[in-house]
Amino acid sequence: MSEVTVVGLGPMGAKMAETFLAAGHQVKVWNRTASKADPLVAQGAGRAASAADGDLLVVSQISYQAMYDSLGDAGLDGKVVVNLSSGAPDELREAARWVAERGGTLITAGIMVPPPGIGQPGAYSFYSGPEDVLDRHRATLEALGGVTYVGTDAGLAMMYYQSLLLIFWSSLTSHMHAMALMGTAGVSPMEFLPFARETFSQLGGDGPMGYAKILAEETAAGAHPGGENSLHMQAVGLGHAVEALAAAGVETTVPEALLRLFERADAEGRGGEGLGTVIESIKKP
Ligand SMILES: NC(=O)c1ccc[n+]([C@@H]2O[C@H](COP(=O)([O-])OP(=O)(O)OC[C@H]3O[C@@H](n4cnc5c(N)ncnc54)[C@H](OP(=O)(O)O)[C@@H]3O)[C@@H](O)[C@H]2O)c1
Repeated sequence: MSEVTVVGLGPMGAKMAETFLAAGHQVKVWNRTASKADPLVAQGAGRAASAADGDLLVVSQISYQAMYDSLGDAGLDGKVVVNLSSGAPDELREAARWVAERGGTLITAGIMVPPPGIGQPGAYSFYSGPEDVLDRHRATLEALGGVTYVGTDAGLAMMYYQSLLLIFWSSLTSHMHAMALMGTAGVSPMEFLPFARETFSQLGGDGPMGYAKILAEETAAGAHPGGENSLHMQAVGLGHAVEALAAAGVETTVPEALLRLFERADAEGRGGEGLGTVIESIKKP
């Protein structure tokens, strides 16, 4: 079993430390607010002398700035820092240089589950950086969930993570708008749920509503045939949905932003193409 130091004991880091312990690893923990280590020490973790105390440092903090604040000017000779915190891709690239200047290697990561999911079936993280270094620690990191390596570019793990979170945030916010609208007509969230679930599942499927795949194929091919389902028709329909929300007294910020995007693609002359043509407007703000 390996030795691992967990740096950052918020909800994520604390659960990571517990999960490494449960998998039989030798775990040390460090947190800016030192008292957060106490419950983990009670479970068998050691108290790290500093954030840099160990050869494998698994970091989970609010930001990359927190990593700089925690490691300070500690030497990182031969150390591997696996940072699963959120940050902008360029920040991660800069952080990789920062760690390298101190003699260490940074592996960046985006973890795709909340604390209760860590180490559970279906959990996985995107990792980027030098693959040979990741491979040396793959078995240890697998305690947290699947290890999905996406490339040497340090920013890439976070780009996968953020791209999936965009889908997560925007589709779930739409679900909230939908529940709010239905609620104004007395339809309860639980009555509406089967239809929402069916839509979520069909969008990811292979049928006629399987738009995740349809849009990927169209975008890869660089063509968005409208056929019987034009963007113009959908922009008009979305306008009606915005009117419905406003009339029901529900806020409309996000649906209105979508409408502006659809209308721009239409005004740019692509109203006869399919919904997927909106990506052309997204790529050129
Ligand atoms: N929670 C989730 O569902 C989830 C899922 C996927 C990814 N993530 C990502 O995982 C990371 C950790 O999330 P979290 O939910 O555990 O909590 P968080 O609130 O994002 O981070 C809390 C941790 O950051 C530390 N911290 C903040 N500022 C610091 C600084 N300047 N110097 C040193 N340490 C500092 C805190 O230390 P103190 O205790 O001393 O304040 C604490 O250990 C985030 O980047 C988040 O985006 C979270």
